[in-house]
Amino acid sequence: MVTNIFILIILIILTIGAGRLTSKAVRAKRLWVKIAGGLGAGLLTLILAAITFAGGKGVAMLYFPAAPAALDLTVAGAPEQIARGEYLVNISCVDCHSAPGPDGKPTRQPPLSGGYDLTGVEGFGFIGQLTPENLTPGGKLGGYSDGEIFRALRHGVNKDGRALAMMSLMPYRQLNDEDTEAIIAYLRSLPPVETTLPTGDNLNFIGAVMAGAGMFGTVPEPATEAITAPAQGTTAEYGKYVATYDECRGCHGPDMTGKPATSVTEAIPNPRPLVGELTLEQFVEMMHSGVKPDGVPFPEAMPWENAAKMTDDDLAALYAYLIASVK
Ligand code: HEC
Ligand code: HEC
Repeated sequence: MVTNIFILIILIILTIGAGRLTSKAVRAKRLWVKIAGGLGAGLLTLILAAITFAGGKGVAMLYFPAAPAALDLTVAGAPEQIARGEYLVNISCVDCHSAPGPDGKPTRQPPLSGGYDLTGVEGFGFIGQLTPENLTPGGKLGGYSDGEIFRALRHGVNKDGRALAMMSLMPYRQLNDEDTEAIIAYLRSLPPVETTLPTGDNLNFIGAVMAGAGMFGTVPEPATEAITAPAQGTTAEYGKYVATYDECRGCHGPDMTGKPATSVTEAIPNPRPLVGELTLEQFVEMMHSGVKPDGVPFPEAMPWENAAKMTDDDLAALYAYLIASVK
C-alpha cells in the first residue's frame, strides 16, 4: 500500500514536470525545438497522465473503498443454517479457498485453508499477489467478528476497511442476509487449520493501474438496501439467484447471454440456445457429467463441477431461468 501510494506521488510529480517541459518547448524560439520538443514532451505528458490517472483510481479503489461500518451481528449457527452454508460454500468458495494440490491449483476438497497462488499459477504474477485466505477459524477469520465477515462478503472490504481486490468483484454481495449468515455459520463450524502459506492480496502498481482502468471489472456501489432473494423454488426467478451465487452470471454475463472477450479474458458463449434445445433431464445430465449432449466435454474454463454438486431443485431452477425469455 505505502509503496503504491509513493509510486503514485512520484508519477504525479513526473507528469507535472513533463507538462512544464511541454509548455517550455512550445514557447521555444527555434522551430525544430518547438515541434519535436512539443510533440515528444506532449506525448510523454499524455502517457504519464493516463497512467497516473488509472493508478490514482486504482489506489483509491483498493485502499479507500466506500463501505459502511461492520454490523453488530451474532450468527446463531443452528444445524440447518450450517448445512445451508456448507452447500453454498461447496458449490463456489472451494474453487479458490481449498488448499492447493501438487499442481498449485485448489483441490476443491476440504480443508478451506487457502494458499492458492492465483496470480502466479494463472500467469498474472506481474500484477502482484492474490491469494485466497484461510477460511477456517485457524486463520485470519478467527480474529473477525461475525459482522466483519458479513461485511467482507457483502461489501468486499477487510477488517480494516481496505478493499479485498478479488472478493470485491465476486457476486457474493448479492447473497441475501440469510444465505450470507449461513456461510458464516458454516465457516465458524469448520475445524481450525493453521497454515504457513502466505494469503491475502497485495497488488503492485501495475495491478493498481489495471484495476483503476477497469480491466478486472468494476466494483459495484455498496448496497444500501436489504438484499432479498426470491422464494426458493424451481422458478426462473429463483434460478437467476442461483446463477448469481454460483457465478454463472459472473462469467456468462448478467443476463446469461454471453460476454465478449476483454484484455484479460476470453469470450464466453451464450448458453441459452443450447439449453433451449434440451429437456430438463438432458440439462441435468450435462451439468452432472460435464459432457454436452453432442458428446463434447466442457473445457476446463467452464466449472461444471460446481453445478454437479447442486441439488436437483437448484438445477431445475437454473434450467427454468435459462429457457425463459431474457427480460
Ligand atoms: C475466484 C476466487 C475466489 C472465490 C471463488 C472466493 N474467494 Fe474469497 N478470496 C479470494 C482472494 C484472492 C482473497 C484474498 C483477498 C482478495 O483479494 O479479495 C479472498 C479472501 C477472502 C476472505 C478474507 C477477507 C479478509 O478480510 O481478508 C474471505 C472472508 C473470503 N474470501 C470468503 C469467501 C467466501 C465465503 C467465498 C464463497 C462464498 C469465497 N471467498 C469465494 C478469492 C476467492
Ligand atoms: C469461470 C467462468 C464460468 C462460469 C462460472 C460458468 N461458465 Fe459456463 N462456460 C464457460 C466457458 C468459458 C464456456 C465455453 C465453453 C466452450 O468454449 O465450449 C462455457 C460454456 C457453457 C455452456 C455450453 C454452451 C455451449 O453452447 O456450448 C453452458 C450450458 C454453460 N456454460 C452453463 C453454465 C452454467 C449453468 C453455469 C453456472 C452453474 C456456468 N456455465 C458457469 C465459463 C463459465
